[in-house]
Amino acid sequence: MTLANAPASVSPIRLSDYRRPAWTVDTVELDVDLEIDTTEITSRLSLRRDPAQSLPLRLDGENLELLAISLDGRPLDAADYRYENSVLDVVGAHDGSMLETRVRVRPSANTALEGLYLSGPRETGFLLTQCEAEGFRHITFFPDRPDVLARYTVTLRAEQARFPVLLAGGNPDGAGELADGRHWARFVDPYPKPSYLFALVAGRLESIRRDYVTADGRKVELVMWSEANVIDRCHYALDALERSMRWDERAYGRNYDLDVFHVVATHDFNMGAMENKGLNVFNAKYLLADPDSSTDEEYRAVEAVVAHEYFHNWTGNRVTCRDWFQLSLKEGLTVFREQQFSADMNSAPLKRIEDVSLLRRTQFPEDAGPLAHPVRPAEYREINNFYTATVYEKGSELVRMLAGHLGQDGFRRGTDLYFDRHDGHAATIEDFLAALGDANHIDLKPYLAWYAQSGTPRLHARGEYDAARREYTLTLSQLTRATPGQPEKLPLPIPVKLALFDQHGRMLPLHLDGQTVETEKVVVVDKASQRFVLRDVPSHPVPSLLRGFSAPVVLECDYTPTELALLLAHDADGFNRWEAGQQLAALAFDSLHGAGHSAACKAWCDALAASFENPAIDDALLADLLTPPGEIEFADRQSEVDPAKIHAQRQELQRRLAQRLGANALLDRYNMLSSGSEVQLDAASQAKRRLKRRVLELLALVDTDQAHALAARQYETAAGMTDRLAALGLLVRDRAPQAAAVLADFRRRYADNPLALDKWFAEQAKVPGEPALANVMQLESDPAFTLKNPNRARSLLGNFASANPSGFHRADGLGYRFFAEQLAELDALNPQIAARLATAFNGWQRLEPVRREAAHTTLQGLAGREGLSRNLSEIIGNVLQ
Ligand code: PHE
Ligand code: ZN
Repeated sequence: MTLANAPASVSPIRLSDYRRPAWTVDTVELDVDLEIDTTEITSRLSLRRDPAQSLPLRLDGENLELLAISLDGRPLDAADYRYENSVLDVVGAHDGSMLETRVRVRPSANTALEGLYLSGPRETGFLLTQCEAEGFRHITFFPDRPDVLARYTVTLRAEQARFPVLLAGGNPDGAGELADGRHWARFVDPYPKPSYLFALVAGRLESIRRDYVTADGRKVELVMWSEANVIDRCHYALDALERSMRWDERAYGRNYDLDVFHVVATHDFNMGAMENKGLNVFNAKYLLADPDSSTDEEYRAVEAVVAHEYFHNWTGNRVTCRDWFQLSLKEGLTVFREQQFSADMNSAPLKRIEDVSLLRRTQFPEDAGPLAHPVRPAEYREINNFYTATVYEKGSELVRMLAGHLGQDGFRRGTDLYFDRHDGHAATIEDFLAALGDANHIDLKPYLAWYAQSGTPRLHARGEYDAARREYTLTLSQLTRATPGQPEKLPLPIPVKLALFDQHGRMLPLHLDGQTVETEKVVVVDKASQRFVLRDVPSHPVPSLLRGFSAPVVLECDYTPTELALLLAHDADGFNRWEAGQQLAALAFDSLHGAGHSAACKAWCDALAASFENPAIDDALLADLLTPPGEIEFADRQSEVDPAKIHAQRQELQRRLAQRLGANALLDRYNMLSSGSEVQLDAASQAKRRLKRRVLELLALVDTDQAHALAARQYETAAGMTDRLAALGLLVRDRAPQAAAVLADFRRRYADNPLALDKWFAEQAKVPGEPALANVMQLESDPAFTLKNPNRARSLLGNFASANPSGFHRADGLGYRFFAEQLAELDALNPQIAARLATAFNGWQRLEPVRREAAHTTLQGLAGREGLSRNLSEIIGNVLQ
């Protein structure tokens, strides 16, 4: 028996070191004998050798107990192989050789949730795998890299009573009974795939099914699987899957390609979901939905994630990534496709607002601090640390710019060519740009710089109006600050979608370069500074820039409050209208501490008071308009951050708004928005609930007792989770007298619903300021709390450290110390989750000196601990630099 672990510290892996695999695999046959505590896997690999390289056979294998090994039917002597430091070296293999190994793994002892593991209690839980990025090497020996594409035949065997359901990726290819109460099932996947897309599931699961016929005539059975007690909550996801499939046929001409499509829900999952070929696995949070336990946001998230994983079947699976540096090739593109889909299914401007807010809250801080990395990183130590907002969300913004550049038809021509060229292969970002460009006879190489350069560009805009010449000159300049390892920055191609408004809020026709165009135009800024002269402009205009957020940059434009108010009132671009409000709110925020325009706060309040009375504005957009940028976004604009101060100031800003709107108007609106006894999920009903929540929050700032009484009643009478959680959240955050009772009730009501209970933890972790830590420490010792479940750990610790700046960043540093202790404990169980939560320390260098010092001390203490995982030490090391 041999067990081999990787050494803890490793040198980085570099993109520039990429080499084609010396050995690939044509076919994989896996026989898996499943048991909760020990599972045995026999694998037969037919090997292909790259004739241009003469390296001996080397396979990855992590924590495997090697039971038997043979080459071309001959058992190997100890001298013919070596298993050490997570690699297996074999002598004597040649092109066409067949390597057979048998290994043992321990699913019930696997707390990292990577490889084969147990979900749920050992008596009732089920077994499943997670292989992205490098989990397959925890199951068997393999060249575990995405550019090795093989055809898989998988035979599962297990005790029938304990594991009635046996699933693997691909098409079913027989099943039957065995002696002594065991049974088997075989799956064949006809499409070559990388090992990270392998999956199996085994246990007691229920299903709901639907027949589907693809546009090109294939009959497919769609099946959702979950544990019996939640199977009724899978219907919404099944509907969403069908919508996604139809949409991808229409929008991208992509059809599904197997006879079955299985989706399985688990409560124990490190990420959101996983696109394993033919057998998606979902964090239950993104699959289960019902009105009593899911909010409207969660319904939208389920729809989005179902679509995202389904879309991966083409962008990721049929065309996969050459290496993990190309991760955004599949993730950025798939996020973009999901965003388009969600925009089509729901409201496009609202989706854009939601996505840009997410980008600003998660990706901008990443790009501005020590964890900054390009969308295509140049090096990593632990690939799991690179499933980041930069790779996903900024990656999607880059695809959006390319799509915008090519136009709808051009982009479709480009993706058609991309799929044609690279189907069944592992591709690079260059391949993607080349396919898009070639299909349109355009050179898109300049955009490659966006993939290589980290940091958020600042786009400075200055407008000058010459009344005599009726000319408006717009000077646009860009600057990207240095980021770790990248002191020098190049100018990038920045598409700026723009329009001009006159003083009455009417759009002006644009005369640029002698041509008359429409009222909206895209100019590309690709130098450090450029001037654009617009002619025949009748009066001093107000520019609307970067419409629809046409590039992921920070726009710096010296608007006056009046100009922003004008855009907020008149801009036809829903996103920019909201954006004008956000910028005005930022000016108002600054004015509270005596900086900038003293009139800004009044201007913001007046403008929103007008919007509040404007029946033409959709309820959901109004709710978003009435919400100023979050504390993290405000912090991002400051060089010395005091989170307590930011919290207080943002509250004050909102209080002024509430005062301006008036308690009576808020109360009237709240009453008008009260909803019926059943949850409707149509857009208008969701919008009402969103606005109702916002109105109640504002009311609480001016008539606290009244608002709390209403919230308590809303909690009791709520038809669904959206209204119920909104009420609970308000009472808990305000530490209202009614909070204890609703918390106790919620806990009782949802005692058997872990996803709902997660929200119970999350809301309490978000109580602002001083009281947060005591709360969180107490909840940490609650019997329902466990570090072993990622959703639960994220609910409490993730929300505390990443979504509650004033609670976490205490001046006494106790928040940091408590959190670091938890991280160390978590790291021993699940390094991926520990590392992800640890990114909450990002940005500590910009804290005011007292907190900075406290954070620094804590981080150094954590870094100095023995036995940290590669995942956590990489994040802590990078954060500290
Ligand atoms: N590939 C998954 C997705 O984005 C995310 C994931 C990564 C899941 C790594 C598990 C492990 O759709
Ligand atoms: Zn994805």
